[in-house]
Amino acid sequence: MNRTRTLATRLVHSASPHIERAVVAPIFQTANYLQDDAQTYAGVRYLRLSNSPQHLALHAKLASIEESEAALSFASGMAAISTALLALLVPGDHVLVQASTYGGTATLLGEDLRSLGISHTEVDAARPETWPAALRPTTRVFYVEGISNPLMEVPDLPAVRDFARAHGLVSMIDNTFVSPVNFTPIPFGFDLVLHSATKYLNGHSDLVAGVAAGGAALIERLAHRQNHLGGSLDPNSAFLLDRGLKTLHLRMARHNETAERLARALAEHPAIASVRYPGLPSDPAYARARSVFSGFGGMLAFRVRTALAAERFLAAVRIPLHAASLGGVESLVVRPSRSSHLGLEPALREAKGITDALIRVSVGVEDADELIADFRQALDQAEG
Ligand SMILES: Cc1ncc(COP(=O)(O)O)c(C=O)c1O
Repeated sequence: MNRTRTLATRLVHSASPHIERAVVAPIFQTANYLQDDAQTYAGVRYLRLSNSPQHLALHAKLASIEESEAALSFASGMAAISTALLALLVPGDHVLVQASTYGGTATLLGEDLRSLGISHTEVDAARPETWPAALRPTTRVFYVEGISNPLMEVPDLPAVRDFARAHGLVSMIDNTFVSPVNFTPIPFGFDLVLHSATKYLNGHSDLVAGVAAGGAALIERLAHRQNHLGGSLDPNSAFLLDRGLKTLHLRMARHNETAERLARALAEHPAIASVRYPGLPSDPAYARARSVFSGFGGMLAFRVRTALAAERFLAAVRIPLHAASLGGVESLVVRPSRSSHLGLEPALREAKGITDALIRVSVGVEDADELIADFRQALDQAEG
């Protein structure tokens, strides 16, 4: 891997195998490969083992982008998260986790891992003084999101790294909302970075994929677990993900720019109760985000005054699509209480601030002026 090159050049050129002199690597639509003298089962080439030429090239590219020793692809972001946690934890172990995470991760911890005897404690990831009280002798992992879904909280990332090191915990960060263009956690000192590659890394809302990157020994443990759990990426999605990655830097630059402009415009609108975007100087997370990120990403969340106003806004907005997921070229608006966090108990959802008046925006790459004008006209109609 050539790390003297900038991220932009690595995104375009890293790990391109040029098979048969092809500029773009073909799709290896084959489940199995002719047996050679592989000494271990993991050495046999087979799609579930994530070791086709396509996987190997993609993993090399992902490691180059994340500046990690190794990387691994998965069938989804949740496959990456669940496989990573199941690779590192056994019954009796305990996890420290940021209080506001993606709903799927929250339910994985609260239901699936709990039923296996793996417990967790939620902490305010921005308040390191509260963490020692939550630590147990059995704590193994500190899990955070770079920018949390959907509340847009930003942890005290240097403190998470240092606390995990000081107590022998594996530090894991879901960096889906931030992207490696704005922050690379591995050279910063995290042990493992995870992505729903469904979102920014691919960027075109046409596949589901996950990524983990970190030290070679850690990734090897994940690969071993993945071989058994089976959540590996299919060849078509691996091809599309590699294609999407080539424009990640261009897309993120536009996402960063337009989201910041939209956040400022929303903050001034009378129908808005509050806006969360870590790039707004008035945002509670601004100082933490600014000290670590080079850009603030394309995600923001805002509150209108009532659930009815949220419904009116969603009915009136014209350019963004009303859909779950995020990170694509098209702008999306959604109520997390009705999508990503629908699986949480209603009382817990409310307690976390994920109310029916909260709207999450994934800012696309459309014309910024048109987008802002559209949000304004929809908000004008929100209060009836
Ligand atoms: C922050 C975050 N992490 C993980 C996931 C899960 O990813 P996937 O849907 O690819 O399994 C999502 C999905 O929305 C997400 O927003």
